[in-house]
Amino acid sequence: MKTTVDILKAAVLPLLSAALCVILLSCGAVEPDAAGTETKAAVTKAETDETDALQTIPEIVTEPATETEEETTEQITTEEKTTAEETTEQITAEETTAPPATETETETEKETAAETADVPDDPLGFKADLSSYEKYLDPEDKDAYLILVNPDHPLGETYKPADLVYIADSREGRKDQLRLYAAKSLEAFIKEARANGCKRITSVSAYRPYNTQKYIFDTDVEKLMQQGYSKEEATAIERKDTAYPGESEHQSGLAVDVLDDDSSLYEFESTYEARWLAENAWKFGFILRYPKDKEEITTYVYEPWHFRYVGRYHAKRIYDMGMCLEEYTEYLANNG
Ligand code: DAL
Ligand code: ZN
Repeated sequence: MKTTVDILKAAVLPLLSAALCVILLSCGAVEPDAAGTETKAAVTKAETDETDALQTIPEIVTEPATETEEETTEQITTEEKTTAEETTEQITAEETTAPPATETETETEKETAAETADVPDDPLGFKADLSSYEKYLDPEDKDAYLILVNPDHPLGETYKPADLVYIADSREGRKDQLRLYAAKSLEAFIKEARANGCKRITSVSAYRPYNTQKYIFDTDVEKLMQQGYSKEEATAIERKDTAYPGESEHQSGLAVDVLDDDSSLYEFESTYEARWLAENAWKFGFILRYPKDKEEITTYVYEPWHFRYVGRYHAKRIYDMGMCLEEYTEYLANNG
């Protein structure tokens, strides 16, 4: 029998789904595939579909790969009718109608499930058997993955890691890649997250080639200019959310955006999943790369979904010292 909550979900989800696609793309948290095939058509279908936004993603990936980036950009520009601002307003209005009591119950259930799961015998308290992942979580060469990528330390146009592999837990319809050690460590991270009640955590973006980053950046700048900003203003605004092409650590193959499949980008920050991931990432060699209290230093807004692989040795120190990667690398330079 359908409950009031089910009925509310059925009414609200399609609208949230459409908005989520637009927002994820504009934040760089979900990018189009390498052929640049994210289209308004996929979003429009979601609006009429009584299912999750995620089901639009297989369509994105199966779009013809022969379409040129230029054609796609033109198509999106022409078809784009909804501004990000309108979408935000829509979500805010709809969120106020969501039943908070149910969300609280769900969080409690997850925490209870996590507490009652099997008692581990692993020194780090893992509930899942991660013994075969240990060499990736804590690499023998502990400095091999400490590379700093930011506007002052760009990778440039041609950088591409040599050891990219497909990761195990891409969101349905995606085929994300990371460098081998980061990919295996992410697999362990997500296994353990799921054993701790984060049932629907998946990667929504990982390695991004220079051209994909450029496509995301340019498309977003174009949208901002359509809202009346000058090119300089639009570029400055966009650079807070999305790295300029050549400056994104997604291009390093060591960064991944993960989200709970049931939460919107806005909701994710306050979920049990986001808290669990942030608190436990170091055990798997990851750091929360853009913390809330480090925006001035990283130059990017807080991204609770963006994790960066550095290996456990450095991840633990960064977590314990409460530093961002810029501070930590400077600390190392000054302290040997
Ligand atoms: N959103 C992060 C900063 C990137 O685009 O790499
Ligand atoms: Zn990211």
